[in-house]
Amino acid sequence: MTIEFTLLQDRPELLPVIAEWYFHEWGTAVPGHSLAVEREHLEPSDHGEDMPMVLIALEAGIPVATARIKRHERGEHPEREFWLGSVYVDPSHRGQGLAGLLIGELMSRAVELGICDVYLQTKVDDGGLYRRLGWLPLESILHERGFRVRVMRRAANFNAASVPAGSA
Ligand SMILES: CC(C)(COP(=O)(O)OP(=O)(O)OC[C@H]1O[C@@H](n2cnc3c(N)ncnc32)[C@H](O)[C@@H]1OP(=O)(O)O)[C@@H](O)C(=O)NCCC(=O)NCCS
Repeated sequence: MTIEFTLLQDRPELLPVIAEWYFHEWGTAVPGHSLAVEREHLEPSDHGEDMPMVLIALEAGIPVATARIKRHERGEHPEREFWLGSVYVDPSHRGQGLAGLLIGELMSRAVELGICDVYLQTKVDDGGLYRRLGWLPLESILHERGFRVRVMRRAANFNAASVPAGSA
């Protein structure tokens, strides 16, 4: 598998594919949400200078995965500025380490922007993949949609390769 990476802002024609992934994975359960709204949220007009940073993995030019960093996904701790989220791998490419590869690339780009800590929230209480990639658990809290999520934090420049397999 030869993977290349691109930012959505550099390949805006990929927006419909990303919007469709996000909408079908997370949007259909949200009352009043629609594919059109999902697309609007990804439009460049909503982008700040660098955020949200939507990274896309391509295999042979075809998008196969995406993830993003955005500001202030949760409001309780305003000092927690940068959040990893919307990690999505096309079903045909799952279970091959692609999410880990993509997140590693996204963290490198975050470091280049001077970002120190990156937070996330996950339904997987032990952190799953994210624990393996160096995120450490903080509190367990209620998501606005009624389920519990684990908040986690990692230094963007953490070297996940230094974590021995099976130690998470
Ligand atoms: C979660 C997802 C991104 C993993 O992609 P992937 O390329 O198959 O991931 P990798 O091969 O790098 O790693 C697989 C690991 O992810 C773990 N995983 C699966 N779903 C997970 C989740 N929601 N949160 C954390 N870890 C998860 C698996 O248990 C597996 O762990 P292991 O390697 O210790 O066995 C992919 O299954 C997906 O897109 N799912 C639908 C969207 C989603 O749930 N995104 C995560 C939101 S927090």
